[in-house]
Amino acid sequence: MAAEQENVGNLKQRLAKLFQLSLDATVPGEPDIEPLVAACTAKFGDYQCNNAMGLWSKIKGRPGIEFRGPPAVGQACFEFFFLENIFAIMKNLPQSEMIESCSVAGPGFVNVVLSKNWMAQNIQKMLVDGIETWAPKLSIKRAVVDFSSPNIAKEMHVGHLRSTIIGDTLASMLEFSNVEVLRRNHVGDWGTQFGMLIEFLFEKFPNLEDVNETAIGDLQAFYKESKQRFDVDAEFKDRAQKAVVRLQSGEQMYRKAWAQICEISRREFYQVYQRLGVHLEEKGESFYNPHIPGVIEALTNQGLVEESKGARVIFIEGINIPLIVVKSDGGYNYASTDMTALWYRLNEEKAEWIIYVTDVGQQQHFDMVFKAAKRAGWLPVDDRQYPKTSHVGFGLVLGEDGKRFRTRSTEVVRLADLLDEAKTRSKAALIERGKAAEWTEEELEQTAEAVGYGAVKYADLKNNRLTNYTFDFDQMLNDKGNTAVYLLYAHARICSIIRKSGKDIGELKKTGKLVLDHADERVLGLHLLQFAEARQVVEEACTNLLPNVLCEYLYNLSENFTRFYSNCQVVGSAEETSRLLLCEATAVVMRKCFSLLGIKPVYKI
Ligand code: ARG
Repeated sequence: MAAEQENVGNLKQRLAKLFQLSLDATVPGEPDIEPLVAACTAKFGDYQCNNAMGLWSKIKGRPGIEFRGPPAVGQACFEFFFLENIFAIMKNLPQSEMIESCSVAGPGFVNVVLSKNWMAQNIQKMLVDGIETWAPKLSIKRAVVDFSSPNIAKEMHVGHLRSTIIGDTLASMLEFSNVEVLRRNHVGDWGTQFGMLIEFLFEKFPNLEDVNETAIGDLQAFYKESKQRFDVDAEFKDRAQKAVVRLQSGEQMYRKAWAQICEISRREFYQVYQRLGVHLEEKGESFYNPHIPGVIEALTNQGLVEESKGARVIFIEGINIPLIVVKSDGGYNYASTDMTALWYRLNEEKAEWIIYVTDVGQQQHFDMVFKAAKRAGWLPVDDRQYPKTSHVGFGLVLGEDGKRFRTRSTEVVRLADLLDEAKTRSKAALIERGKAAEWTEEELEQTAEAVGYGAVKYADLKNNRLTNYTFDFDQMLNDKGNTAVYLLYAHARICSIIRKSGKDIGELKKTGKLVLDHADERVLGLHLLQFAEARQVVEEACTNLLPNVLCEYLYNLSENFTRFYSNCQVVGSAEETSRLLLCEATAVVMRKCFSLLGIKPVYKI
């Protein structure tokens, strides 16, 4: 019972603790055996312990221990001893209110059936104490998630949308786990393109006071026009290159023009963030600029920086190109900034875990930056130790033709247009369902946004991020199948069941009693408790960083609920109170998943 009194950890961890005690008693000579406990779908049990087989091969032949193998006299004898040992693991399992029964099955498994009373009590406890009590505990205090990070004057495109959505979810999962997250927008606001943009701006607006969003119009078109000048006009090109130097040396006029261009771009980005409900704090490339020389000097003093073809570089074992930290013209680049930003995040911001979300195309860049940081002794060589860095790469977004997602004119697709279309389509679907007559215009708008934007996000997150995925409005806005629309409707339906009962759910939580007698209630209840495992997914997200696992959990939850609801009458039944509590628990867990995935729930449909 001692292990249980602590009452910490998720289901799997708690069972593992019990099996630890059993293994200690069964094989006292082997103190460091890690219990192998896994959820199972077999009809024999909910969880199983798989230690017996491995344990046998590990300790066979060693003299003087309880759990010993047979002398070499044949298979029958082996099986006898082996079985005896498995039964010992089962017998030595401490009494626990968690466990209803145990059995031995298959090639050496101990199966556990959980107690439905215990399950019901724990779900009810979560309802009273709040879903936060089911949050995982991570061993770190502070993390940086570097995500979205578009480039100034260039349009934010679908790749940035992926980074924004995936990064936001990872940040939310860490925050739920009680980690302070610095949500960093590493905007590309410093680079050679600014020379040309500034010179072009001076030409168009001799008086900088005249510069504003409406006067410039489309910043992307402005970028294109200036690039054209740059490519054909040698004199302009020369001026542009000099402008970069003047900007970097801090000349006032140049700084001012730069700031104006950034501001216009920024406003556009933040409109998209606002629509997506994503919170980010900008520390763009320019922020790290003053720190670059010091960092390069320190790396040079450590003997890491070498001359190569006029540039200054860091060589990395196993990679045939070096990391260029100072270009041959003496200027800094993407890598100089990333080395410095990493130094800053480790030393000034004291982040223990730094996560970068970009397309997989940048994998080598980050691999080199991380390895250089290890050479410099900034990071431990062992990736399992903190502080650590992770690159979260993702695949391409494809159009219905299977090629990179573009509009007809082969331009990149504007994010704002995508969001507009998602909303328009989901609104049309709501109107088709007759909601225009039932709801206020405001309700219609808000639901259309929640469903439309939610659909775009979910379609992205439900895939393993490394695979390419096809952007398809018809598919993502379908109200059947694994889509946000289906899930949001399922949630709204649960809310309407509770509303229709006319009961005060706050009161029921305290006075009612949840039971899991029907088989479908039990399956749903177990899945709810396994949110602990899904939040273990949050912990695993710490190594694998895969939001799709949470999507899978949510989809299965909804399926389990549907099965329960079609087989168990709720309102008006003898079990009404208990079943309403089960509905409420499902809705609470669904809403937590939605919030981790950045999706706004809807309450009626
Ligand atoms: N601005 C870059 C791009 O659009 C992404 C920046 C990612 N973050 C970083 N620290 N390098 O590709």
